[in-house]
Amino acid sequence: MSPRGSIKRAYGHALGLVALGSIVAAGPCDLYSSGGTPCIAAHSSTRALYSAYSGSLYQVKRGSDNTTTIITPLSAGGVANAAAQDTFCASTTCLITIIYDQSGRGNHLTQAPGGAFKGPEPNGNDNLASATGAPVTLNGQKAYGVFISPGTGYRNNAASGTAKGDAAEGMYAVLDGTHYNGGCCFDYGNAETSSTDTGNGHMEAIYFGTNTAWGTGAGSGPWLMADLENGLFSGYNAGNNAGDPSISSRFLTAIIKGKPNQWAIRGANSASGTLSTYYNGTRPNKSGYNPMSKEGAIILGIGGDNSVSGQGTFYEGVMTTGYPTDATENSVQANIVAAKYATSSLTSGPALSVGSSISLRATTAGYTTRYIAHTGATVNTQVVSSSSTTALKQQASWTVRAGLGDSACYSFESKDTAGSYIRHYNFELQVGANDGSKQFHEDATFCTQASLNGQGNSIRAWSYPTRYIRHYSNVVYAASNGGVHTFDAAGSFNDDASWVVGTSFA
Ligand SMILES: *[C@@H]1O[C@H](CO)[C@@H](O)[C@H](O)[C@H]1NC(C)=O
Ligand SMILES: *[C@@H]1O[C@H](CO)[C@@H](O)[C@H](O)[C@H]1NC(C)=O
Ligand SMILES: *[C@@H]1O[C@H](CO)[C@@H](O)[C@H](O)[C@H]1NC(C)=O
Repeated sequence: MSPRGSIKRAYGHALGLVALGSIVAAGPCDLYSSGGTPCIAAHSSTRALYSAYSGSLYQVKRGSDNTTTIITPLSAGGVANAAAQDTFCASTTCLITIIYDQSGRGNHLTQAPGGAFKGPEPNGNDNLASATGAPVTLNGQKAYGVFISPGTGYRNNAASGTAKGDAAEGMYAVLDGTHYNGGCCFDYGNAETSSTDTGNGHMEAIYFGTNTAWGTGAGSGPWLMADLENGLFSGYNAGNNAGDPSISSRFLTAIIKGKPNQWAIRGANSASGTLSTYYNGTRPNKSGYNPMSKEGAIILGIGGDNSVSGQGTFYEGVMTTGYPTDATENSVQANIVAAKYATSSLTSGPALSVGSSISLRATTAGYTTRYIAHTGATVNTQVVSSSSTTALKQQASWTVRAGLGDSACYSFESKDTAGSYIRHYNFELQVGANDGSKQFHEDATFCTQASLNGQGNSIRAWSYPTRYIRHYSNVVYAASNGGVHTFDAAGSFNDDASWVVGTSFA
C-alpha cells in the first residue's frame, strides 16, 4: 500500500485525495492499492505511477564514455525529467539500460538475455532501446517512451511477487497504437523464467500487433490480444473474436487480467474516453490453459521464449497481485487520460523543407567533398562538385518528402529515379521502388536531429532509432554506435553520422 492508501480509503473515492491542504492526485498504483490489488511491478520511463514516488524511473547509458545516469520524476508523482536526459545525451547516442520497478520489490527490467531465440548481440542478448526514439508530452511536459525495434527486449527472470501457477493477476500498459508489426511478439507481462517455451499456459501477457498465426480480431488489426504461450488469444479460444477491435488510437491503454478459469481483455484510447471490454470469460478449453502454469518472469518487447521479431512502443505499465475490479481499472484509465499523453516533435536540429531538393555532404575530416549518392541500388558517398557530370549530380540529389511511414519525419526520393527512395535493408541503405508496403514505408522513413558532431544534422532510422545514416568505407548504412556489424564501429561514429544539408546539384 502507498503511504496515503489509508487516507484514500477513508475518502472512499478513486480519482484523488486531499492531503495537508493540497490536492494530490492518486497514481495508477495508488488506485490499484485502494482496490485491494496492489502493483507488484510498476514500470515507466514517462512518469511516477504512485503519487508519492520520486525515485528512479530509468537509467540511460551514453555512447561517448559508456557512463550512465538515472532519470527521476521532476517531483513526487510527476513526469520524468527529460531535460536531464537531453543534457546527459547531448552530442552522443543514448540507450535505456534499466527500467526501474517503482513498487519497491526490485522488479527492474534490464537487457533481455537470449532464450530459445537469440537476440542480435554477440552473446545472444537482445538490443537495448534508444533513449530518444519515442518522445511524447504528458500535460505538456516532454518525456520519452521505450521504442522497441525488432531485436530489442527487456526482462526480469527473477521477479518477486508476480503471479505463479493459476494465481490471479492484472496488468495494464500504455502503448503507441500506431507502432506495431506482425512479428512475434511485442509483449508486456508474465512469462517463463527460463526464456524458453515450457508449454501452454506458462505465460499471461499483453500482446499488441498484427500477428495472425493464432488469433485475430475484427478488421485488419492491429489487435490487443493475450499471449498465453503457444497462442495469441483475442477471445475464448485461438481464432477470431469479432469483439476484439482493430486499434486506431495513437495511444492505447491495454489491459489483460486472469484468475482461475476467468480472464479478460480491455482497452481504451489513453487520451480520452473509457475502457471497453473486448473479452471477458472462461479460459481456453485447450489443454494447458486451465489451470494456468504462470511462472512469474516479466518481459517487455519480446515473447516468453525471447522471440524478438515484434515492434512497438511502451510508455508505462504495471502488474498487480489479485484480479483488479473493472471499477479499479476504470479509475486507472481516468488517471491515464488525466496524464494527457500527446505527441511531440520527432525531429530537431536544422529543419528540412518537404518538397525541396537537397544534397547531403559528409563531415568527417578527409571526406568533406563526398555526398550521399547512389550507384544503382547501392547508396554510397561520392565526390561531387559543380563540374561533375549531370548523371552524377542527379545521383547525388534527393527530394525531401514527408516520411512514408510517419509524416513527422522524412523520406528521401531519388532525383533520377522518381518513385524510388532511400531505405534500409539489413541495415545497408538502398535506393528502392516504393512498393506501397508498410515495411517499405517504415524502412524509408528517417528522422533528423541536431547533429552528433555539431555540423548539420544527424539522421536516424525511424524504425531503428539506435541506427543513424552513416558512411563507412564510402558505403552508407543505418549504423548503431558500437554495434555488432563492422559498419557499426564506434570510431569516428559521430562524424560519420553527421551530414550538412545543402541545395541539390540537380
Ligand atoms: C564502451 O563499451 C563498449 C563495450 O564494452 C566498448 O567496445 C567501447 O569501446 C566503449 N566505449 C568507450 C567510449 O569507452
Ligand atoms: C466480466 O465477467 C464477470 C463474471 O461474469 C462479471 O462479473 C463482470 O461484470 C464482467 N465485466 C464486464 C466489464 O463485462
Ligand atoms: C472447446 O470449445 C469448442 C468451441 O466452443 C468446442 O467445439 C469444443 O467441443 C470444446 N472442447 C472441449 C474439450 O470442451
